[in-house]
Amino acid sequence: MQRAVVRDRNDTRQYDDLADEWWRPEGAFAALHWLCAGRAELLPPAVGGDDVLVDLGCGGGLLANYSAGYVHVGVDVTMSALTISAERGVQALQGDVGRLPLRDASAAVVVAGEILEHVSDLPAVVAEICRILRPGATVVMDTINATRIARFTLVTVAERLPGGPPPRIHDPELFVVPERLQALFELHGVRLEVWGIRPSVGDYARFLLDRQRPVRMVRTRSVSIVYQGVGTREPR
Ligand SMILES: C[S@@+](CC[C@H](N)C(=O)[O-])C[C@H]1O[C@@H](n2cnc3c(N)ncnc32)[C@H](O)[C@@H]1O
Repeated sequence: MQRAVVRDRNDTRQYDDLADEWWRPEGAFAALHWLCAGRAELLPPAVGGDDVLVDLGCGGGLLANYSAGYVHVGVDVTMSALTISAERGVQALQGDVGRLPLRDASAAVVVAGEILEHVSDLPAVVAEICRILRPGATVVMDTINATRIARFTLVTVAERLPGGPPPRIHDPELFVVPERLQALFELHGVRLEVWGIRPSVGDYARFLLDRQRPVRMVRTRSVSIVYQGVGTREPR
């Protein structure tokens, strides 16, 4: 539930205020559950052993439902979220995604789900992702485009809708232009392919009625609001 305190947009203390919501699929982070399920379909099959999946801005560890076979390492600034993700089996590390507490080339997979639109130094975060990807490793991401339609849909409208982002969680000034993101990855030898996604209209209508079933994310031709992407670091 929303607390009485009104925070600035993108103030990470909001995640402390909402800590009880992480694992309520119909709650304030409902859309993160839907996005996480869609993101999980893009993970390379785990081969077992000690392959590391690094989950940037892991929050309450929602990806833990899908990370079997990997050593799932979560990095986040919010201690309350890390505590919850650790209860789900995530190896939780407190840190800033712009300065990852991880060795070079240590990750088989890096997941950046709904984090890139929260950072002020995007080039530093992309550089850090590419630094920890081992040759041939995969990055999976989803984020929000820096368009008027995204701002209107996800801030003006969706913050007031069930299943929408919690009010003030986003600062639209930090939304991410896909071409810029792709160019930043390209600087580090990672070609990022991106496509748009949106909630299934039928699923969302049912969600409004009963708040029971999850909403599937489906692909769209337009990347103008929310988009997903996958890239691979060049093998040596
Ligand atoms: C929208 S939530 C996404 C959580 C998770 N990735 C998911 O999809 O369920 C954003 C998370 O990023 C964290 N975060 C925001 N800025 C960060 C930063 N600079 N470094 C590390 N974590 C950050 C927040 O604490 C929060 O847990």
